[in-house]
Amino acid sequence: MDVLVVGGTGAAGRAAAVALAARGHHVRALSRSGTTDVPGATGYRGDLSTGAGLKEAMTGVDAVVDTYNVTSQSYEVARKAFVGATERLLAAEEAAGVRHHVLLSIVAIDGSTFGYYRAKVAQEGAVAGGSVPYTILRATQFHEFAGQLADRIKLGPLVAVPSMVTRPVAVSEVGEALADAVEAGPSGRAPDLHGPRVENVVDMARRTLKARGQRGIVVPLRLPGSIGRMMRSGQLGGTDGVAGVLTFDEWLRRGT
Ligand SMILES: NC(=O)c1ccc[n+]([C@@H]2O[C@H](COP(=O)([O-])OP(=O)(O)OC[C@H]3O[C@@H](n4cnc5c(N)ncnc54)[C@H](OP(=O)(O)O)[C@@H]3O)[C@@H](O)[C@H]2O)c1
Repeated sequence: MDVLVVGGTGAAGRAAAVALAARGHHVRALSRSGTTDVPGATGYRGDLSTGAGLKEAMTGVDAVVDTYNVTSQSYEVARKAFVGATERLLAAEEAAGVRHHVLLSIVAIDGSTFGYYRAKVAQEGAVAGGSVPYTILRATQFHEFAGQLADRIKLGPLVAVPSMVTRPVAVSEVGEALADAVEAGPSGRAPDLHGPRVENVVDMARRTLKARGQRGIVVPLRLPGSIGRMMRSGQLGGTDGVAGVLTFDEWLRRGT
């Protein structure tokens, strides 16, 4: 199949591109930079905030995998970005005759008051209410997640990481699950994907920095109210679905 991975240079997008290319699919990886180092994949330049480049990237494509991301935690900013991107993608897919849209989302975000999670729920709604047959795969936080947070919120030597409990999953296993979803065809909501063990994200951040040989004092950020309670409750690790096998420790040992 010809598959366009949107956000194909990101953590999940690259993993999906690697998995799809290894299975013999023709992979296009779209990002603003237009680059890719995935063997067998072709880089396409495009911008989801404007729709530039989507028409060219979409021609002859059988399925689109959306792993685009925005880092804002503001509901309005994130909703505008995620829903706007989805609307532009679906319109381009419809025009090009693409018959399968696969969206990567996050486990257990229903009813959350956290702006980013609310925006992902709105994005899921735009996909489910759209005219292109779809699959939505929800995954828990990746093993990379704590490192992504640690890279974003720094103040001198201090690294702020929210107190949070989840069952992190290897992004390579997310990539394989996205490739499975492409091959299965439109399935609506796929079974959730979570990791094999419960982990504390603050602890994951400390272990990630140590494994990278980076200095930094990780300061737990105890978010107030229902958002904080939800993050600390372990709810984000999910209850059922499919379990990945690679633990955070095994992943760290392989090298971050
Ligand atoms: N990280 C997690 O733990 C996790 C867990 C579960 C689900 N998810 C979901 O998985 C998705 C991907 O997350 P991720 O962590 O893999 O993201 P990421 O590493 O931040 O990658 C984001 C990708 O989107 C591209 N991008 C950003 N803005 C763009 C724009 N305007 N136009 C075109 N491309 C753009 C980036 O490339 P350029 O910057 O070069 O454009 C990059 O390829 C998100 O929707 C997230 O909610 C993440």
